[in-house]
Amino acid sequence: MHFLVQLLLVSTAGAASLLEPDGPYRVGFTQFIIPHVTPDDPTPGPGNELLAHLYYPTRNTSSRSPVPYFDPRSAAIWNPLLELPEGSLNKLTTGLLSNASFLDAPTGHPTVLFSPAAGFNAWMYYGLLANLASNGYTILAIDHPGEPPALRWPNGTETIGLSVDVNFTASLTRKVHTYRVADLAAALSWFPAFVRRTDAPFNTSQFLVLGHSIGGSASVTFAPDHPKVRAAVNLDGGFSQHETVVTDVGRPVFLMSSINHTIQYDPSWAEFQEHQTGWWEYISIYGSGHLDYCDIAMWKDALGFGPFVQEQFGPVGGVRTTRIARKYVGDFFGWVEGGDKGVIATPSLEWREAVYVNGSDLADV
Ligand SMILES: *[C@@H]1O[C@H](CO)[C@@H](O)[C@H](O)[C@H]1NC(C)=O
Ligand SMILES: *[C@@H]1O[C@H](CO)[C@@H](O)[C@H](O)[C@H]1NC(C)=O
Ligand SMILES: *[C@@H]1O[C@H](CO)[C@@H](O)[C@H](O)[C@H]1NC(C)=O
Ligand SMILES: *[C@@H]1O[C@H](CO)[C@@H](O)[C@H](O)[C@H]1NC(C)=O
Ligand SMILES: *[C@@H]1O[C@H](CO)[C@@H](O)[C@H](O)[C@H]1NC(C)=O
Ligand SMILES: *[C@@H]1O[C@H](CO)[C@@H](O)[C@H](O)[C@H]1NC(C)=O
Ligand SMILES: *[C@@H]1O[C@H](CO)[C@@H](O)[C@H](O)[C@H]1NC(C)=O
Repeated sequence: MHFLVQLLLVSTAGAASLLEPDGPYRVGFTQFIIPHVTPDDPTPGPGNELLAHLYYPTRNTSSRSPVPYFDPRSAAIWNPLLELPEGSLNKLTTGLLSNASFLDAPTGHPTVLFSPAAGFNAWMYYGLLANLASNGYTILAIDHPGEPPALRWPNGTETIGLSVDVNFTASLTRKVHTYRVADLAAALSWFPAFVRRTDAPFNTSQFLVLGHSIGGSASVTFAPDHPKVRAAVNLDGGFSQHETVVTDVGRPVFLMSSINHTIQYDPSWAEFQEHQTGWWEYISIYGSGHLDYCDIAMWKDALGFGPFVQEQFGPVGGVRTTRIARKYVGDFFGWVEGGDKGVIATPSLEWREAVYVNGSDLADV
C-alpha cells in the first residue's frame, strides 16, 4: 500500500503537461489506419497504409490515465537530439481522452484535414490541433508511415522511418510533396464511410485543410481539386513545387509566416500571390521561427528547461506562437464559416506580433 502511494506520487510529480486547449469542450482522441497505396514510396514505410490521428470534441471529463504525448521510440530519438536529460520527453502528457464518447449532435463546423512538416509526426501539433477540437472542430491529422523517424501503430508495432537528419533533397521533397497531396485526398474519401460506420456526428460535406511547412504547401495544392474543401491554411511552408506556385486556389487561403519568411527570402510566395483570383491574406508573426508552429518549441518549456536558442526557433517562443496560431487560424475558420471580416481587421495590442503583410484586398488596388 505504502509502496503504491509512493509510486503514484513519483509518476505524477514527474509528469509535465503541454499547453492545454482552452475551448469549451474536452478533447477525445483515437487513431485509425487508412488503406492507401503510395506508388513509388521513397520512405522505408509499408507504402499501403496511412495513420490518422483523430481529435474531436467530447463531453467526457475524465479518463483512467493521462495519454502520454510521446511513444517511447520517438522519445528515445528526439531526447538526445535536443540534448535533454535521458527520459525527459517521456514525461510529457496530454489532456486527451482516449476513445471518449462522441457528442450527440454535430457542432456544425467543417472537418479539418491536417498535414505536418516533412519528417515530423502529425501528433507534434497538439498545441494547435487539440485546441481547435476543444472549440468544436474534428481534426484528421495524417501521418505517412516511414517518413517520421518512428511511428507507432495502434497495435503497438513500430515503423522506423527516414533518419532524423535525412537530407530533403529536391527529388525527395518532390516525392514527399506528391504523396502528401495524395494522402490528403485518401483521407478525404475514406472519412465518410468511417463516419457512417461509427455513427459519429462529424462533418462529411465541408472540410478545411491546414498544414505546416511542406504540409502547408500540400494543403494549398490539394484544395482546388476538391469541391468539399472550403479553404486552406499554410503555416510557413515554402512552395517548393512549381505546380503549387501557379495554383489558383479559387477559395480563401490564409498564409502565416515566421519572421524570416519574407518574399525576398522565398520568392515562391510572391509568385503564388500573383496567381490568386480568390480571397487570400498573408500575415507574419514577428519574432517567430519556422519550428515555433509545431509543439517542439514547447517541449523544453513544459519540462522546465527554458526555451530553445537556435535558428528555426524565434525569440517569441513556441507557447506564444502557438497561442497566436490558435487565435488567427481560429479567426480565419470562423470567417470562412460566415464571419464578415478579414482575419486581421484591425491591429491589436494583445496580438501585436501578428502583422498584416499583404492580401487580396491590397493586391486588387
Ligand atoms: C480505442 O479503440 C480502438 C478501436 O476500438 C482500440 O483498438 C484501442 O485499443 C482503444 N484505445 C484505448 C486507449 O482504449
Ligand atoms: C464517456 O461518457 C459516456 C457517457 O457518459 C460513458 O458511457 C463513457 O464510459 C465515457 N467514456 C470515457 C472514456 O470516459
Ligand atoms: C458542415 O459544415 C457546414 C459549414 O460550416 C455546416 O453548414 C453544416 O451544418 C455542417 N454539417 C455538419 C453535419 O456538421
Ligand atoms: C500492426 O499494425 C500494422 C499496421 O496495420 C501492421 O502492419 C502490422 O502487421 C500489425 N502487427 C501485428 C503484430 O499485428
Ligand atoms: C546532407 O547533405 C549535407 C550537404 O550536402 C552533408 O554534409 C550531410 O552529410 C548530408 N547528411 C546526410 C544525413 O546524408
Ligand atoms: C501584394 O501582393 C500583390 C500580388 O502578389 C503584389 O502585386 C503587391 O505588390 C503586394 N503588395 C504589397 C504591399 O506587398
Ligand atoms: C533569421 O535569419 C537570420 C539570418 O540568416 C538568422 O541569424 C536568424 O537566426 C533567423 N531567425 C529565425 C527565427 O529563424
